[in-house]
Amino acid sequence: MLPFHQAVATDFEQVNQLIIDKLHSNVGLVENIGHYLVEAGGKRLRPLLVLLCANALGYKKEARLELAAIIEFIHTATLLHDDVVDVSALRRGRPTANAQWGNAPSVLVGDFLYSRAFQMMVRIGNMDVMGILADTTNTISEGEVQQLVNAKNPAITEADYYTVIHKKTAALFEAACETAAVLAGAEPALRQALRTYGYHLGLAFQLVDDALDYQGDAESLGKNVGDDLAEGKPTLPLLRAMQQGTEAQAALVAKALREGDASQLDAVVTVVEATGGATYTLDAARAQAQKAIAQLAELPDSDYKKALISLANFSVDRDH
Ligand code: IPE
Ligand code: IPE
Ligand code: MG
Ligand code: MG
Ligand code: MG
Repeated sequence: MLPFHQAVATDFEQVNQLIIDKLHSNVGLVENIGHYLVEAGGKRLRPLLVLLCANALGYKKEARLELAAIIEFIHTATLLHDDVVDVSALRRGRPTANAQWGNAPSVLVGDFLYSRAFQMMVRIGNMDVMGILADTTNTISEGEVQQLVNAKNPAITEADYYTVIHKKTAALFEAACETAAVLAGAEPALRQALRTYGYHLGLAFQLVDDALDYQGDAESLGKNVGDDLAEGKPTLPLLRAMQQGTEAQAALVAKALREGDASQLDAVVTVVEATGGATYTLDAARAQAQKAIAQLAELPDSDYKKALISLANFSVDRDH
């Protein structure tokens, strides 16, 4: 358990149980795949955000637990779909569901989880929460499609890159924080501050994820490195490497990107290192985490607020 779990340890246990309970289906394969992925763990950062924001605002009603489980279901559904489109083989230290069962069950169980999340939302019955989460799931899909369109294109700009990571990743972090604030009945300024905290934290989180795809190792990550190159994803470490490198270095990276060729990973990693592409990405992540923390200024002091700060620091100092 990471230190920032401590502040909401009891809530967190209850959410984990709720997640298991809500995976229920009469179709065995749904439960098998659901349990397989959920029991492999995961950091559960997004439900933690819900619990920490709700508690920081003094909101203690049951719906905070349901909302946390809903957000993790949406996240898990995106992972099932993401591993299909990224053709990934390892997730949370285990073979991906698509590697284990194939693409069709992964896509369909992803749909099951999305729709289960919406069933649970209706039970909470808050129209603002439903509106935010409907928009968010739509935004995530759009981000994933935009990323697909950008693939194998070395001419993508940093601004294009940020648009994609905002939509595919930061949007759910924003929503986790904002929906907790909505349930808590927070005043508009605080609600906006928490949403903006989630925005910067989500950007920081994806920036680090993208750096780790060139710098990390599969053992700690629980997923394979090099998947981004294999899909020809123009992520920030590569954009920076092409911008800072010599003509030959830039050409090498551009070619590997255009071909989506993971066999060139070692050569690309060497260029990313030499040009400071990964360091640049991690520095950008650190700056985003600082912006996230700055948004918490108006939040009353508490252990929950401390945990939100330490979660932001963790998201840039992690190796998994
Ligand atoms: C993975 O998210 C998807 C990204 C947005 C990079 P996490 O790294 O939070 O995945 P788990 O839930 O801990 O496995
Ligand atoms: C994750 O992006 C975004 C979503 C899951 C929507 P990645 O494709 O980089 O995530 P990982 O690295 O597979 O976890
Ligand atoms: Mg992926
Ligand atoms: Mg992906
Ligand atoms: Mg990734």
